[in-house]
Amino acid sequence: FEVHWDASAAEKGGWSSFMAKEVSEEPEAVANTVRGRVHDGQVVIPELEGLDDLFTGIRRIIVVACGTAAYAGQTGKYALEQWTRIPTDVELAHEFRYRDPVIGEDTLVVSISQSGETMDTLMAVKYAREQGAKTLSICNTQGATIPRESDAVVYTHAGPEVAVASTKAFVAQITALYLLGLHVARLRGSLDADAAAQAVAELEAVPEKIQLVLENEQQHIEQFSRWMADTQSVLFLGRHVGYPIALEGALKLKEISYIHAEGFAAGELKHGPIALVEPGQPVFVIVPSPRHSGELHKKVVSNIQEIRARGARVIVVAEEGDAAVLPFADEVLRIPLADPLFEPLLAVVPLHIFAMGLSTAKGLDVDKPRNLAKSVTVE
Ligand code: G6P
Repeated sequence: FEVHWDASAAEKGGWSSFMAKEVSEEPEAVANTVRGRVHDGQVVIPELEGLDDLFTGIRRIIVVACGTAAYAGQTGKYALEQWTRIPTDVELAHEFRYRDPVIGEDTLVVSISQSGETMDTLMAVKYAREQGAKTLSICNTQGATIPRESDAVVYTHAGPEVAVASTKAFVAQITALYLLGLHVARLRGSLDADAAAQAVAELEAVPEKIQLVLENEQQHIEQFSRWMADTQSVLFLGRHVGYPIALEGALKLKEISYIHAEGFAAGELKHGPIALVEPGQPVFVIVPSPRHSGELHKKVVSNIQEIRARGARVIVVAEEGDAAVLPFADEVLRIPLADPLFEPLLAVVPLHIFAMGLSTAKGLDVDKPRNLAKSVTVE
């Protein structure tokens, strides 16, 4: 009698892959990142105690990161700017230091890195410090090089991420940016107390809502990704906070299923991408909540009609109860109601499941995609 002990299978805790396990941990990644940082309905990040000077004198925030972490930055920009009223830009770390950026002591450079070891991001942080900017790192790995090279660190508590494609770290990074935004807004008095309390309540409700997406949509997505195994290309459209989510959905698909995928801002459709739409072309559309200001919902529904009229196979990610999308969608993936700024934390979940489903349907190694490394420690 022999007992076969497979250490790797044990670490996966019954899941078929690390990525499947890590997607299932997205609710905890958010909850653990928030834990200990809310006091009496206000965000106070203990690690930033005594560091108020980092935030009071600044006039600009520049977020630097690579890959999925950069999309987390692009997503967080909307809330950071809205809550702190500090102009915020997001830049790929490897582009940043080669363009002689105008930065100085009134600039806070926020780096985002799961590993804390990405060379391009590290070099951007070092460069920013040399120019006299203040630096803060959002990182998932205790004691990694990037936080050691920064003036301050806000750790994401997603737990170790093993799969090369980043998932639970992504939602934790957005969460950390939101916490940072609320912390800074409190220091600067840029957000009224009711709005801040409302944002905290929304953030605290996210884990349960992600759990609902996993429970309600996982099987459905896995099913239709199976019949899409031969798909050659997939497009993703989003607007406002849904735009970086479209980019992230496309990146994840490229990374683990080797399918050509592009994400676009939905408003760009008529400026080019619509030329790609031919009968049968799968297009994911992240539909903004009807409660979004500026009629974004209506505009994206009209984009859906345009691509549908050209034969696209439309897969929408839309909030519960949004019936306007029904007549034009081949598949509808539902996310629970949330304040529009918090929707990306929910809308990305079906896209992570889809990339995994398609990779599995193609018989690929979900955790170890070809040519990619979990952490790129060379320039
Ligand atoms: C590599 C990984 C990506 C990751 C990026 C940034 O390209 O394959 O999944 O998003 O690096 O990594 P970091 O550790 O800095 O977040």
